[in-house]
Amino acid sequence: MNTRTLAIIKPDAVRAKRAGKILSMIEESGLTVDAARMFRLTRELAGEFYAVHKGKPFYEGLLDFMSSGPCIVLSLSGEDAVARWRNLMGATNPEAAADGSIRKLYGTSVQFNACHGSDAPETAASETAFFFSGAELP
Ligand code: CMP
Repeated sequence: MNTRTLAIIKPDAVRAKRAGKILSMIEESGLTVDAARMFRLTRELAGEFYAVHKGKPFYEGLLDFMSSGPCIVLSLSGEDAVARWRNLMGATNPEAAADGSIRKLYGTSVQFNACHGSDAPETAASETAFFFSGAELP
């Protein structure tokens, strides 16, 4: 089934000029980029986006990181897009990520892990709506 997911190329990867390489990997994987925007999250918006992690030890650091510079937010679609994008990203901790995955290649720590992806179709719908209006999507 054709589904959507939300991808973020995080500030560490944008700063390191890895965005083009990551976009190429997405396109080569067969996923489609339906919408894209370069966006600097405020700390407040980062807090809203990652509200599910509030109270965890890494939460405050995550907000500092995600508001530290621009990221590139992408709406992706394709057959089984949520799982395919998560597979392409690799495990949250780059040390545990599979060889060839984006986090293995470009992540430098469990916090500075280069990219984000929705973890389920329901999350994908709410995360996509967080950044894109319906009119921006095909
Ligand atoms: P992401 O997939 O965007 O989801 C939540 C983010 O929190 C995660 O990627 C990491 O950037 C960060 N994160 C998750 N676990 C930890 C941790 N143990 N220590 C620091 N940051 C973490």
